[in-house]
Order: sequence, then C-alpha cells, then structure tokens
Amino acid sequence: MSNIVILGAQWGDEGKGKLVDLLTDRFDYVIRYQGGHNAGHTILIGDRKFVLRLVPSGILHPGKTAVIGNGLVIDPIALLEEIEQLMSAGIDVMQHLRISNRAHVLLPSHRVVEKISENGSRSIGTTLRGIGPCYEDKAGRRGLRIADLLDREFFPDAVRYLTAEHLTRARAFGVADTVDVEDVILRYSAAAERIRPLVCDTAVLLADAMRAGKRLLFEGAQGTGLDIDHGTYPYLTSSSSCVGGASTGTGVPPTKLHCIIGISKAYTTRVGGGPFPTEALDSYGDLIRNRGREFGSVTGRPRRCGWFDAPLLRYSAAVNGYETMVVTKLDVLDELEQIQVCVAYRIDGQEVHEMPATVRELARVEPVYRTLEGWRCSTEGISEWDQLPKAARTYVEFLEEQTGIEAGCISTGPERNQTIQRAGSRFMRATASM
Ligand code: GDP
Ligand code: IMO
Ligand code: MG
Repeated sequence: MSNIVILGAQWGDEGKGKLVDLLTDRFDYVIRYQGGHNAGHTILIGDRKFVLRLVPSGILHPGKTAVIGNGLVIDPIALLEEIEQLMSAGIDVMQHLRISNRAHVLLPSHRVVEKISENGSRSIGTTLRGIGPCYEDKAGRRGLRIADLLDREFFPDAVRYLTAEHLTRARAFGVADTVDVEDVILRYSAAAERIRPLVCDTAVLLADAMRAGKRLLFEGAQGTGLDIDHGTYPYLTSSSSCVGGASTGTGVPPTKLHCIIGISKAYTTRVGGGPFPTEALDSYGDLIRNRGREFGSVTGRPRRCGWFDAPLLRYSAAVNGYETMVVTKLDVLDELEQIQVCVAYRIDGQEVHEMPATVRELARVEPVYRTLEGWRCSTEGISEWDQLPKAARTYVEFLEEQTGIEAGCISTGPERNQTIQRAGSRFMRATASM
C-alpha cells in the first residue's frame, strides 16, 4: 500500500486534521483536493494550536511537501494570511508548499453573490466564504484560475468583467453591496507575486513524485454528507469531498488511490442547516457540545450534536469504498450513563435500507436506536486498546458490527499521542512506514 486518502465520513469536522498530522511522517506529499477556506482543520501540538483552512495539514512536518490541488477554490488573500501565520510559527512554507495552476480563484464578489441565496428564506447556512458561487463559475466555464491570476496582461480585465457580472446579478436580487474592483486588482496582483514561486502543474509534480516512489496522503475537507453528489442535497457544499474528488481534484488517477480511510466521530455533528436524523435537541446534545467543544473552527457557530448514525456510515463506506475507519472523540462520551446508536431508519413505519435522496424524506426519518451502557470514567489520552474500559470497547465493537467497517484507529484526545492504533488492523497495514 502506498497512497492513502483520509476523508470525512459524516458532515465534516470529524478530526481529519489530527489524523493527517498523525500520519504525515509516513508520507512524502500531503495533498488537499477540494473545498476552500470553508474548511477548518485543527491540529494541537503541545500548547500550540493551528487551524488550517487551505494549506494541507502536512505542512507542519519539516521536509514534507504540501500541495493545494486543482480541485480547490482559493481566496489568495486568505491563503496569504494563512501562509504568514505559518511562517511566523517558523514553518518554511515557501520551500514546502505547491499550488496548482488550475485551482480556481475566489473573488470578493463571490461573497456578494452568495448573499442572494443566503439572505433569503432558502438559506442553507453556508460559511459565507463565497465557496458555492466560485464553484458555480467553475462549472459555468467563466471562472478564473490561478494561472489566470498570474497572467499580468489578462487578469485585470477578466476580474473587471466577472465582478461586474456578479454585482449586476446581486443588484437584480436586491443585494446592493459594492466592490472596489480596482482595489481587488491591486491586492490580488500583489498576492499573485507572492505566490508565483509556489505555483506549478501539480498533476505533473505528483506524477513525477509517484514515479520516484514517493508516497502521497490525500487530505479531504468537509465530509460525505456535504459532498455535492452524495450528500444531503441541497444542504451541502459545492465540491466532491468523497473519494472521487481525490482523483479529479489532483490529476492522480483512481488506480493510484490505494487505501481509503473514513474518519467518523463516536457521535455526529453538523454545522448549518439541513437534515440530521440523530440530532439530540435535548440536554445530551448540550453535553456533547460542551464536552466536545463543538463550535465551528471557521465561523465559531455552535455545531449541532447528536448520536452515531450507522445508516449514514454504511452509505459513506459504500460510496467511498473504505474498509477501515478512525473513530474520533471517544473521550467526549466519557460521562454518559447511556449512549444511543442509530442502527436503522424508518419512514412511515417502514424500515429503509438506503439513504433517502431528498431532504423531504430525510426530514421524516425516525431513527431506530439501540441503547448501550456508558463507561463513566476517563478514556482521555488512552493509547492502548486493552486499556479502554470494557464498555468503551463494547461500544466501538458495536459501531464496527453496525457499519461493517473495522475501527482500525480510535482517537481519545486532540493530540497526536492520544490515539489507539489497533494491532493487526487494515489501518495499521495501510499506514505502516515502508
Ligand atoms: P476536521 O475539520 O475534520 O479537521 O476537524 P476540526 O478540526 O474542525 O474539529 C475537530 C476538533 O476536535 C478539533 O478541535 C480537534 O482538536 C478536536 N479533536 C480531534 N480528535 C479529538 C479527540 O479524539 N478527542 C477530543 N476531545 N478532541 C478531538
Ligand atoms: P471541514 O473540512 C463542517 C458546511 C457549512 C454549510 C455547508 C455549505 O472543517 O470538515 P459552504 O460554505 O461550503 O458553501 O457551506 O457546508 N461546511 C462545513 N461543515 N466542516 C467543514 O469543513 C465545512 N465546510 C463547509 O456549514 O452547512
Ligand atoms: Mg473542521
């Protein structure tokens, strides 16, 4: 096994950043393949906390190459802010970051366009970063790419044209915001000169790396429930966060994605609107939110919290093809006397075995729960399977049984060493250093 994809099995924030950081040592390249600065991947190293949005989490390891693939939408100003924060923490970003010349450029007027839908009654609770409108322009074949940003002749007029189009549309829908386009051109052109040395054809870079026997780690953003095709449409993001995106978003062929690992919390959260069958709207939801510090790392919004949803995981495993999962934040459940797990969905009294396609059906889902005993003692920081309390092992084994997927790794705290890597698991075999 050489190349691995780490992706979210639920609705994002599963702890992908922690896992990527944990595994990076065993790889040469860490690659983001979709999304933008709507992502927030938190990494805790001792008393230092990093929240990465665009730059792959692997950048924190000396000597590794971090790659922003063609599938992303990049706000160059947000990217520079992040680069500067990393540089001030002593990280040699200029040496180790590479950016695809085919990634799309996110403009301030994309955020204005987003207000058309997000200010109205059909809002889905986005991060308001302009992500959706930027992907719309990509699919609409009118977007600008990083290669265009670097083209000093072409870029200014192209931005004037696209911004004017965005503002005309916005005004037609009653959004009166203005954008100083000449200021945008100045700021974006200055940003272009800063990132110019980092930009290349990253598909070629990665093809050469693979020929030289290097190992690639793909870092998904968001999660299966937010994937544009497989998620809870329309309450999702505008990119392919599932495994297919790792190929289209980097130019690395699917045959080179050797192992896929799904990351899931021991419970479920989601931020923003949309169906959430196992949401706990009672004191359990509050308890999980407080213990798990479930507040958005990008927008600070409280995350909606609820129970583990096995049907969602089964669907996620099917569309991504993973055979091993990482169960994170087990320690958050430490205080609970009883823990619920959704094992099936029922609609109008009938059990359904597939993930309903519409939000109307999902809103009618009644989760079928099984109740398990809690362990009521601390699992924080435990790094050996045998040291987990019996009830915690039973809980994890129940999740394995219900999803049909092994829990090859269990996370018991935000830090690297607060992790159980299970001997003999597929997870261990796939991630072993060579
Ligand atoms: P990502 O977007 O998937 O990378 O996840 P986020 O970083 O947005 O959210 C996960 C949060 O949980 C972060 O604050 C992590 O530091 C934290 N975290 C990750 N794993 C664990 C764990 O096993 N236990 C606890 N208590 N916190 C964790
Ligand atoms: P990471 O990578 C959780 C959600 C937003 C909203 C929907 C659409 O940290 O897991 P967008 O701005 O993308 O158009 O918003 O998607 N969302 C996330 N939720 N984690 C994320 O990223 C998210 N990125 C977007 O809250 O519901
Ligand atoms: Mg996050």
